[in-house]
Amino acid sequence: MAAATLIDGRAIAAQIRREAAGRVAGLKVRGVTPGLAFVRVGEDPASKVYVGRKEAACAELGIFSETRVLPEATRQEDLLALIAALNSDSRLHGILVQAPLPKHIREPIIYSAVAPAKDVDGFHPVNVGKLALGDPTGFRPCTPAGIEELLARSEVNTAGAEVVILGRGNIVGKPMAAMLCQKTARANATVTICHSATRDIPSHCRRADILIAAMGVAEFVKADMVKPGAVVIDVGVNRVNGRLVGDVDFAAVQKIAGKITPNPGGVGPMTIAMLMQNTVRAAELYHA
Ligand code: GUN
Repeated sequence: MAAATLIDGRAIAAQIRREAAGRVAGLKVRGVTPGLAFVRVGEDPASKVYVGRKEAACAELGIFSETRVLPEATRQEDLLALIAALNSDSRLHGILVQAPLPKHIREPIIYSAVAPAKDVDGFHPVNVGKLALGDPTGFRPCTPAGIEELLARSEVNTAGAEVVILGRGNIVGKPMAAMLCQKTARANATVTICHSATRDIPSHCRRADILIAAMGVAEFVKADMVKPGAVVIDVGVNRVNGRLVGDVDFAAVQKIAGKITPNPGGVGPMTIAMLMQNTVRAAELYHA
């Protein structure tokens, strides 16, 4: 079988960033500059890289950004005080607290403290609830929203499709499932979530028309777990002997799949593009 078509996340992300830049220009005509605050706690090396890329994207699009870096030993109440200050700062339309946070800080308490109207990560319970209810007025988490865009802009039909998601995390797996099971044009799929207690994961994977790997196990998805012609989306970022690899054994699976995301260059750039889109939308809603 011919090798799979690549789903070019860099190209699709660039298109979304151009769309966002056009909306930023529209806001600037009205005297509004969208603003986004980043909060990073501790010295997690991956978080430094991710926040750096998000800052660069803001600069490219003309979005004002401000980064607050707090020490690893920061007390939860001091982080909450910072979030309260950012919530009431009218220059800022979005607030992003980079995960993971240090173990002594309870992430649900932090994410519940961000004003829902500034929650461009889509992690506040109000936005999580709106997503579950199919209420489009909320903010949706950037990585699953980016995957929805990749599928839509690559002409992948999700209606009636068997979607299998590997991983049940709050950032990707659960919100992805909530999105794709909605009764909407870009969703309407039959969704299965597999996780560490799932019996016989490969048999679920082999049923999938669309397989989304987001469980964080290096090259877990092998060729014999993929239905010929299936669409394979690799969300994984795993460091193995200093090399970054996804959750999909790309070299083998690309010979079987119909469409596949490269990694890097697939889902990663989409996460940042959707953050820009959410931030511009937050500013537009604030100044509506
Ligand atoms: N850590 C990994 N992904 C994300 C994300 O989308 N948002 C935040 N805030 N932290 C993350």
